[in-house]
Amino acid sequence: MNVQIALKDRSYDVVLGQGVRHGVLEFIRRARPRTKTVVVVTSTSLRRQAWFDFVDDGLSVLEVPEGEAAKNFSALEALCENLADLRLSRDDVILSVGGGAITDMAGFGAAVYLRGIDVVHVATSLVGQVDAAIGGKTAINLAAGKNLVGAFHQPLGVFCDFETLESLPERERLSGMGEIAKCWLLEQRDVSDLDTTSLFELIEMSVRLKAAIVASDELENGRRALLNYGHTLAHAIEALALQRDTDELRHGEAVGIGLAYAARLAYALGRVDADAIVAHDTVLDQLGLHRSVPDDLDTMDIVRAMGHDKKAHHDLTFVLAGQGGFEVVPGVDPETVVRVLESFRGEA
Ligand code: GLY
Repeated sequence: MNVQIALKDRSYDVVLGQGVRHGVLEFIRRARPRTKTVVVVTSTSLRRQAWFDFVDDGLSVLEVPEGEAAKNFSALEALCENLADLRLSRDDVILSVGGGAITDMAGFGAAVYLRGIDVVHVATSLVGQVDAAIGGKTAINLAAGKNLVGAFHQPLGVFCDFETLESLPERERLSGMGEIAKCWLLEQRDVSDLDTTSLFELIEMSVRLKAAIVASDELENGRRALLNYGHTLAHAIEALALQRDTDELRHGEAVGIGLAYAARLAYALGRVDADAIVAHDTVLDQLGLHRSVPDDLDTMDIVRAMGHDKKAHHDLTFVLAGQGGFEVVPGVDPETVVRVLESFRGEA
């Protein structure tokens, strides 16, 4: 099944299904007949997976560090030096194969190497398939926060092969569920339908929502910011956790916590009634996501980090539900933010 990201002359398809990775090299040959070299960017552990079989022996494969460790300047520099050693030209293509960290970093490499070359993503994780690989956001991290250096660079195509999810570690699967929960809530779907919706239908729902939003607001001047639902708190606790342990809190796990908090904040601000909190908690429970902010993070450190989020304009900005649907709400009163956060933490 194909879902189109409609962006005029830069439109492309997200190809979803079992075994779709086997079509990616043929896709590149057809889409870019002048391409002589396809360079695969992946990690050591992903290269060992059985599904890596679709990468022909003749292709150059560059390995980048695992997970978030790939998203920094030194890994990016090494990648670009390797691309130059391979004499990659502007007619050539980077094929990134991995989860969100790899598609973010390889996508940014593609955006800046030779001022931009084509990239195709084979998204192998659930977060990658439902969010990170789609929509052209690419980035690396700074010590000050995640994704603070990046570019919009739309891929030529995105391949989401459900077979790569079979070997996904449980925490990676759960991380993807955080983004799926976000989409389910943004779509205002009925929680009672969740039981009868398959994982593949959840992926399709998330991709279709993202496709519609990106097509209407590619550069996040408006509606695309709704995709950051739950992310103000999520980015803050993820960044604080990352400073001390790279694997304490995965992105989607943090998003789940951020969604539960956003419902409580919306309630405290009189934007929704208490049923919204129950609906959020039920969706998160059904998808296996917990709602606990790590105990040893200090509430005031979290609030300060929320103020540094790149979506905030020197204040506390949240995507919140309301009577008219979801919207970006800047300038939320810090005292309310702290009070609701402390009460939320006390629920556990
Ligand atoms: N991950 C949010 C976005 O792509 O806009």
